[in-house]
Amino acid sequence: MEAKHPKDSKTIVTDLVLPSETNPLNNLFGGDLLARMDRAASIAARRHSRRIVVTASVNHVAFKKTIPLGSVVTVEANISRAFKTSMEVILDVWIEDRESGIRSKANDAIYTFVAVDDGGFPIAVPPLEPETEFEKKRFEAALRRKQLSLVLAGKMDPKEATELKALFE
Ligand SMILES: CC(C)(COP(=O)(O)OP(=O)(O)OC[C@H]1O[C@@H](n2cnc3c(N)ncnc32)[C@H](O)[C@@H]1OP(=O)(O)O)[C@@H](O)C(=O)NCCC(=O)NCCS
Repeated sequence: MEAKHPKDSKTIVTDLVLPSETNPLNNLFGGDLLARMDRAASIAARRHSRRIVVTASVNHVAFKKTIPLGSVVTVEANISRAFKTSMEVILDVWIEDRESGIRSKANDAIYTFVAVDDGGFPIAVPPLEPETEFEKKRFEAALRRKQLSLVLAGKMDPKEATELKALFE
């Protein structure tokens, strides 16, 4: 399969925060933000693989800043690495100041998606070829994060997590 670049699947979704999506403090409900990130990530994974994709894991979510009612929220999804059937997707969430238009980072997260066939079975995806230095660093670190995610999910024996072990040697 021909390799693809991160820019081929980059996905940017911008939307408003409406009253039905907020908590009693009038800030965006956490579960709603997770869903927005899941949607953006699934579009990026679909663009990379051109397959049906499912969320395999939510590996890291940091709710750094509250997002008030009426905010304009931008979710940016980038594929950092493709493995055999899975893809790591890194999400960055920005809010925009109404008057100045200046963007500030509100959240970030890392999701893993798996491409599946019509029966729901994992299927191979194209390799991802990073281009910029930043993309190359993210690519390198992705295997470590995959192993950590698999160990935490009970799907990998910690003894086999070679990339993680190397961190402590
Ligand atoms: C995701 C799913 C397809 C994986 O199927 P599986 O039978 O476990 O298949 P495998 O063990 O071969 O895993 C497939 C890939 O996912 C990766 N993977 C599975 N669980 C993972 C996890 N927790 N973290 C990171 N990667 C994971 C595997 O490492 C493998 O990657 P690779 O082929 O790129 O090396 C299956 O578990 C599933 O359908 N889950 C439900 C998905 C869903 O409904 N999501 C929405 C939830 S609301």
